[in-house]
Amino acid sequence: MSEADPSPRDAEWLAREQARLDALPLGPASESFGHVVHAADGIARIAGLPEVCMGELLQFANGAMGFALTLDTETVEAVVLDDLPDLGAGTRASGTGDVVRVPVGEALLGRVIDPLGRPLDGRPAPACHETWPIERPAPAIIERDLVSEPVETGVLVVDALFALGRGQRELVIGDRATGKTSLALDAIIAQKYSDMICIYVAVGQRASAVERAIEAVRAHGAPERCIFVVAPAAAAPGLQWIAPFAGFSIGEWFRARGQHALIVVDDLTKHAATHRELALLTREPPGREAYPGDVFYLHARLLERAGKLSAELGGGSLTAIPIAETDAGNLSAYIPTNLISITDGQIVLDSRLFAANQRPSVNVGLSVSRVGGKAQKPAMRQFSGRVRLEYAQFLELEMFTRFGGMSDTRVKGQLARGQAIRALLEQPRFTPLRAIDQIALLAALEDGAFDTLSTQDLRALRSKVGARIDAGAHDAITAIEEGRTLDDAQKSALIRAVGNG
Ligand SMILES: Nc1ncnc2c1ncn2[C@@H]1O[C@H](COP(=O)(O)OP(=O)(O)O)[C@@H](O)[C@H]1O
Ligand SMILES: [Mg+2]
Repeated sequence: MSEADPSPRDAEWLAREQARLDALPLGPASESFGHVVHAADGIARIAGLPEVCMGELLQFANGAMGFALTLDTETVEAVVLDDLPDLGAGTRASGTGDVVRVPVGEALLGRVIDPLGRPLDGRPAPACHETWPIERPAPAIIERDLVSEPVETGVLVVDALFALGRGQRELVIGDRATGKTSLALDAIIAQKYSDMICIYVAVGQRASAVERAIEAVRAHGAPERCIFVVAPAAAAPGLQWIAPFAGFSIGEWFRARGQHALIVVDDLTKHAATHRELALLTREPPGREAYPGDVFYLHARLLERAGKLSAELGGGSLTAIPIAETDAGNLSAYIPTNLISITDGQIVLDSRLFAANQRPSVNVGLSVSRVGGKAQKPAMRQFSGRVRLEYAQFLELEMFTRFGGMSDTRVKGQLARGQAIRALLEQPRFTPLRAIDQIALLAALEDGAFDTLSTQDLRALRSKVGARIDAGAHDAITAIEEGRTLDDAQKSALIRAVGNG
């Protein structure tokens, strides 16, 4: 075959290649990338990324993701989100032109994911059609509505004395191992029969503790309406840092559709410590307790995103239960005081009460709910105010009578009532009480039905109360469901149903 005379097959090949060449977009193409100068402790310093923006998502050549935290004149300091090997001096890094985002949508329900939406439960990646930035502005005042519907946590001491409303932010605070996580999980589990979407964000927790939390919800709650966003203690600090923000964006997606969501962040003390770690590594000037000056702003802008939307915007809500850990009950440390002042109330758990087997170990004197009372059911409000007052008086009286016997019958009556309240407020885990059960118990308490009952008898009675009311107090149930207060006939029907048997 001579060169001048190509065979038909070669001619065909030539024509095809020519067409391919013609279709190629030839011309100058630009790609911007930089190189890591130094990487350690979850921070990478990158040279050669002049166009990168604050907070921009970066991609490293080894597959790790990161985001720009501080922009210097010559270099960029980035938080690395994955703890992958081979990230060191010389690793190529490029900007993605986008901020950090998290997948949102219904596909996340029932899933365990990391803060970037990657699956941690061994199932395929959730099929979400949308991603939302993890940092989003809080709803403006005009877009909000008053908190007016209750979140029923099923925990009597919370629902009766420190009621939560949809859209509220209530801090759960206490020393380690005082039942903070358990209380928040009980609130999630009680949503089994409600319409709430629950999001549990684990920040800096031990993997085994997170596993136990997930197991508890799977065993007792409605896992198909829960989302677990997990950045355990072993995860890169950057991943822990973005976890609460990612969780809020996921919750906001449901709220924007007019749904109601509850987010638990366990816990913000660890989140603050991660923030401090990253700030110190990037040489931000340390302030009080070595936290950078913006740690208040960090949590304020996060928690400000909770809230109830106005009817024009669909009326959805996002309720937040952040958790904070104290040292030796010190509520006036830096992070606890910040969080107390940001939230709409706090439930203080007390290690002494916990040790005395008063569980949930809520310190009634130090706890407060600043907006939830307005969201209580009218029938609940009818009884709960009195209980709070009686219990406060009892706690004071108990202090005095400890020193000497008081024989006054009125005082004895008050003491008996107080002890009955204390016994009633004790509640094992995973035993949520419906609003109607709680109201019945409070009505019976006010009637004096529990003053002579032993703690064991009260415990036994409480486990049966639901069935008895369903059988014997239909009128009262209708009144409570329709949002009315109880008249005398309904009240005594309830009390009779509780005391029956
Ligand atoms: N209401 C309760 N009744 C009985 N035990 C409880 C109750 N709440 C918590 N506990 C127990 O107390 C322990 C510590 O609870 P946890 O929620 O992990 O505390 P924290 O989150 O404050 O460290 C757990 O073993 C838990 O089972
Ligand atoms: Mg805990």
